[in-house]
Amino acid sequence: MDADAQKRAAGEAAAALVQDGMVVGLGTGSTAAWFVRALAARGLDIVGVPTSKATAELAASLGIRLGELGETRAIDLTVDGADEIGPGLALIKGGGGALLREKLVWEASRSCVVIADAAKQVKTLGKFALPVEVTAFGHKTVQARICDVLAEFEIGIAPMLRRRDGEPVTTDGGNLIYDAACGTIAEPAALAAALKSVTGVVDHGLFLDLADRALVGTPDGVVELEP
Ligand code: A5P
Repeated sequence: MDADAQKRAAGEAAAALVQDGMVVGLGTGSTAAWFVRALAARGLDIVGVPTSKATAELAASLGIRLGELGETRAIDLTVDGADEIGPGLALIKGGGGALLREKLVWEASRSCVVIADAAKQVKTLGKFALPVEVTAFGHKTVQARICDVLAEFEIGIAPMLRRRDGEPVTTDGGNLIYDAACGTIAEPAALAAALKSVTGVVDHGLFLDLADRALVGTPDGVVELEP
C-alpha cells in the first residue's frame, strides 16, 4: 500500500466514526481530503466545520452542509491530518498552511482524531520544519525574535519565510508562515509556550495534548494509537 492508499484507508476508517446528527470538524490536507470524501459518501445528516477555505470548497462541492466555528453547537468530532505524530500523540501540523484555523477547531472539539500514513509517525518531533504563523506587519522583526527563542532551545537555524512561486504564502487569515527546521524538538511543551509568547506569533504547528486518537494507515492496514 503506497502513502496515498494509506492516507485513504485512514480517512475512510475515521469517516466510519461519524454518526448521524454530529457536528464534525473537517481538517485540511491530502489525508483530510480522503476523510471528507468518505464522509460525504456516507450521506449522513451532519454539519461540517471546515478548517480552511480549501476544505470548505471541497466539502461544499460534495454536498456536505457547512457551519462556521462558533455558529454551530459544540463540535463533536474533528478529524485532521498531521505532518508528524510523536510520542503521546504530540503533533506537528501546518504543512498545508492552515494551522491557526485547525487549532481553533481542534480546541473547540469534544474529540479529535488524527489520521496519517505510516511515514508520519516519528520517535522525536522536529525533522519536519515547524510552521510558525506570524503577522505580516513587522514579520522580519518577529522572525528575529523567533530566532532568539529557538537559540534558547539550541536550535541554530533561522526560520524561513514560506514562499510559493517566489512569493510569500499568505494564510486564509492573511498572515505569513515561517518554517523552523528544528531537527529535534527535545522539549515540545516549553518550545510551544516560548513561541506563543512572542508578539506577532499568531500560532505554531505544535499540537500538544489535543489528539485523542490516531488512525495510521500502514502496509498492514489501519492501526489505532492512543496518547
Ligand atoms: C494543514 O495545514 C496541515 O496541518 C495538514 O493537515 C498536514 O500538513 C498534513 O497534510 P497531508 O495530509 O497532506 O500530509
